[in-house]
Amino acid sequence: MALNMDALGKKIGPISKDYSWKDVVLYALGVGAGFSNLEYCYEKNLKVIPSFSIASVFDFITQFGIQSGVNLAGILHGEQELIFHNPIPTEGTLSTEGKLTHYYDKGQKKGALVVGESETRHSNGKKLFTSILSIFARLDGGFGGPDAPKKEVIFPDRQPDFLVEEAPAGNQPLLYRLSGDLFALHADPEFAKMAGFEMPIMHGLCTHGYSCRALVNNLIPGEPEKARRMYCRFSRTLYPGTPIKILIWKTAPGKAVWRVLNAQTDDVVIDMGEFEYGDIPKEEIRFDGRVAIITGAGAGLGRVYALELAKRGAKVVVNDLGGARDGSGKGSSSAADMVVQEIKQAGGSAVANYDNVATPEGGENIVKTALTAFGKVDILINNAGILRDKSFTKMEPENWQAVMNVHLNGAYNVTRPAFSAMKDNNYGRIVMTTSAAGLYGNFGQTNYSAAKLALTGFMNTLKLEGQKYDIKVNTIAPVAASRLTEDILPPDLFEKMKPEYVAPMTIYLCSEKCKVTGNIYNAGMGFYNRVAVMTGPGAVVRGGGEYPEVEEIQKSLGKISSLSGAKAYFQLNDQVGDVFTALTGPQAGADAGGSAAVAGGAAAGFSSVAAIFEAMPGAFQADKAGSADVVFQYIIAGAGGGDWSCAIKQGTCEVKAGKHEKPGCTLKIKDSDFLDMMNGKLKPMQAYTSGKLLIEGDIMKSQLIEKVFKL
Ligand code: NAI
Repeated sequence: MALNMDALGKKIGPISKDYSWKDVVLYALGVGAGFSNLEYCYEKNLKVIPSFSIASVFDFITQFGIQSGVNLAGILHGEQELIFHNPIPTEGTLSTEGKLTHYYDKGQKKGALVVGESETRHSNGKKLFTSILSIFARLDGGFGGPDAPKKEVIFPDRQPDFLVEEAPAGNQPLLYRLSGDLFALHADPEFAKMAGFEMPIMHGLCTHGYSCRALVNNLIPGEPEKARRMYCRFSRTLYPGTPIKILIWKTAPGKAVWRVLNAQTDDVVIDMGEFEYGDIPKEEIRFDGRVAIITGAGAGLGRVYALELAKRGAKVVVNDLGGARDGSGKGSSSAADMVVQEIKQAGGSAVANYDNVATPEGGENIVKTALTAFGKVDILINNAGILRDKSFTKMEPENWQAVMNVHLNGAYNVTRPAFSAMKDNNYGRIVMTTSAAGLYGNFGQTNYSAAKLALTGFMNTLKLEGQKYDIKVNTIAPVAASRLTEDILPPDLFEKMKPEYVAPMTIYLCSEKCKVTGNIYNAGMGFYNRVAVMTGPGAVVRGGGEYPEVEEIQKSLGKISSLSGAKAYFQLNDQVGDVFTALTGPQAGADAGGSAAVAGGAAAGFSSVAAIFEAMPGAFQADKAGSADVVFQYIIAGAGGGDWSCAIKQGTCEVKAGKHEKPGCTLKIKDSDFLDMMNGKLKPMQAYTSGKLLIEGDIMKSQLIEKVFKL
């Protein structure tokens, strides 16, 4: 049976599971705890072994196998990552939701990897843990998909800091399975033989539980709530009764690596183990499990962003061409390599990329580096930059173009493939880098100013296209000491302008907590503020559909230019809506109270939506319609709503229930809002600008409705 491709990305769950202190104790006994770890086995002052988390949601994780359509006879647990957000209470209800994220093909004979990610919350409202699990499907390889990204865990070349010897009993799987994994492979000798084993095998997660206990006992004794992350790869099966050795090396404060050996053969049964521990960060913004690309991260601001994101758990692609400040020279890999080394030395995860953002191939390769190394892209900071300053008449085309290529085209080249990868995952955070030179102007930087401001236009539209996928796009305007600014900023200021002052704002914009999109922020020296394109209230000059004279513009310039009461619009439609309001408002000479740009607005006292459409043909004024040729489609939501179309052509009006094949302008509104609007309680423009009324298609034509119907 082939893997079910349609299941990828589809939500699974929520699946709920009640548990009591007895489940917690049963699990602890199943993973070898006893009197020497009484805190896990006795209800008085009971604590929970962190790995109980994954065992307790076994009902949910079986869904990954079922939904993916893997051949169940060939499955083994591949890898398991657990990220712990809050301590696991000793009883309550767990609710788990997730999705299959990737299928990887290791080849016809080797099998496939099915990866699923889930989040579990407790009935106390807290997010408890994230699980990223991969199933090794021995019989499902060769479907033609990509190979899994390579992962590397470096073990120190010395004896382990802790060696824990354990002897799981011959009956261990029979006890462990009562915690949820009732798969016959661990209990039924016949089934085990059919699957190619001598006898039932240990559950990988049972050995995982032994390991978790050993890690907590040695690294955070008595404080299992301090476990932050646990990762491993299950590499060999183990028969019950075989003694094991758990080897643990401390690698950095709060970090360790570990593996489990079959004590009889020294074969590695669990490999590439990582364990992180420490206090629960209070509201700390973390990036565990997230993958970030930062362009131009070999120096300056980009380097600081990369270090900070990695410190907070992100896996980072450090891109840098390593060229000169003006973008000249062949480039060198050392800038990116050095930052990767810094991240790894601090215990983080990063890969280098040396591509040029200025070419589409470079952009593709940068994103491919992230996908190959880490399997996805969650965050992109378009940061790479060069300078070629000259006063305008000396600005030759090559200097104009070089700056455009790196800043504007560079952002396009990387963002396009990254956006596509983010859409696949329904998540993304993109940060563009503009500059005060673009926002406000700076002598000698016409090329740079043009490219930098263009990035905000890019953001303005991309934010709309990303909305449906939880992709937020924002822009930072940094001021920082770096190679780019060393001869521009006065030396005394240079010292006070470390990139570390800019980074917190940028990193926030990259986080899950960031809910804004389309915003621009100045950041530097510990001072931050929002920049926006503000639009003044303006004035209607002459009005009544007449063209004003140039002299009238001159006379009204004060009013036209005034920014008093100015607004920041989220998108073009909002601004168009306000223009309509102004044109149909009293100052334009319309009827008193006549801001009804979309539909009548008179107090007609309609009691149902259907009654309005019944009245429409009678209210049609053919003389006002002129040569108008348009079909309006009304989609009225709610129990009292429905679909109606209204076709106006050659001075006729035809209203029909249902959907028209080719509407020119579609109006969507809730039944109660539509009634309020038609009964004069809600001004159409107010409905439109507040989002209660959505207009799609030829928005200008919606102006006609008010003109041709006298409801
Ligand atoms: P920086 O020169 O220290 O870092 C920029 C990095 O981008 C360099 O390591 C460089 O090798 C890399 N790079 C240049 N062209 C590249 C290309 N084609 N492909 C890949 N990498 C490339 O400069 P800084 O100050 O850290 O600048 C970062 C960003 O912030 C730039 O976009 C810059 O325009 C912007 N910015 C900086 C300001 C500041 O005060 N430092 C002010 C306003 C904006």
